[in-house]
Amino acid sequence: MAWSKLKKLPGALLPWYEASKRDLPWRKTKDPYPVWLSEIMLQQTRVEAVKSYFHRFLQEIPDIPALASCDDGLLHKLWEGLGYYSRVRNLKKAAQAVVTEHNGVFPREYAAVRALPGIGDYTAGAICSICYDMPTPAVDGNVLRVITRLTEDATPIDQPAFKNRVREELAAVYPARAGDFTQALMELGATVCGPNRKPECESCPCRGFCGGCLHGTAEKYPVRPEKKGRKLEEMTVFILSCDGSCALRKRESTGLLAGLWEFPHVPGKLETGDALAALEAMGIRPRELKRTVDKKHIFTHIEWNMRGYYLEVAEPNGDMVWLTPEEVRKEAALPTAFRQFWEQDAP
Ligand code: ADE
Repeated sequence: MAWSKLKKLPGALLPWYEASKRDLPWRKTKDPYPVWLSEIMLQQTRVEAVKSYFHRFLQEIPDIPALASCDDGLLHKLWEGLGYYSRVRNLKKAAQAVVTEHNGVFPREYAAVRALPGIGDYTAGAICSICYDMPTPAVDGNVLRVITRLTEDATPIDQPAFKNRVREELAAVYPARAGDFTQALMELGATVCGPNRKPECESCPCRGFCGGCLHGTAEKYPVRPEKKGRKLEEMTVFILSCDGSCALRKRESTGLLAGLWEFPHVPGKLETGDALAALEAMGIRPRELKRTVDKKHIFTHIEWNMRGYYLEVAEPNGDMVWLTPEEVRKEAALPTAFRQFWEQDAP
């Protein structure tokens, strides 16, 4: 019964989308490369933040063959600050697969698109509907919010079987303008029925048939799974300067923030005496302690609580690379967790 409401979605959403859609750069094309890039950037990142990254990335890396052969340092630099760096590593891997397995032409079959690294059901659905007008829904948290409110469905939305059901039920009502319908659903879930605020039911194109609106229950949905706590990690970070250069290290090639740059650090939030001793153990002789600053960075599953020590040191020793600010700006992708120590304060 409730699922049958979905039949009314295309008729309600398409005219509304046409009249009120946001003017976004990736909506001006059906070329799979920019559409794919935008969908990967938009996972976990706000539309406003993505716009400038999107333009810069396409300027530097204009097509799939260029992406397949681009320099990893440039790639990390273009992604610096966006976070979730495995996204950009998969982007390059997928470009290489397009070159070797599809003669450099982005595939047109759903299964082939879905098989590319970093492309899951959501992204494959978005690309195939937006670029090829295929009836392939792209179901993310925003779309689940719209659908559970519409149907007043209290199934916890982390259940994969539920997401599959939503995908199937939506696929069955897809109109010919599949790309517009996918984006209209996203748009409703990002604006009128957006996250972390009251739904604007009075201006919603679905108000005539949405259970959540008609019964005033919209805010009960979606039903979320219980949140798991984050693991807390404490660390002491050293921002070392010597004759205008700053000490950085490259991270391991696997794991969190793989292959990016970092300030040298040790586990635990150390008091000054212990911090200076840890430095000496790294072969560094401090000349002057300038200040300490506490910072925090939250990843999906881990929270870093950090104490940063800003020090002038006698000689550029230790197992690290000494770079000028200009070299850091041009060459070293410093993730936000560490960059927050750099921005206002470093040399
Ligand atoms: N979020 C995910 N994909 C999007 C798109 N194509 N437009 C706007 N927001 C989005």
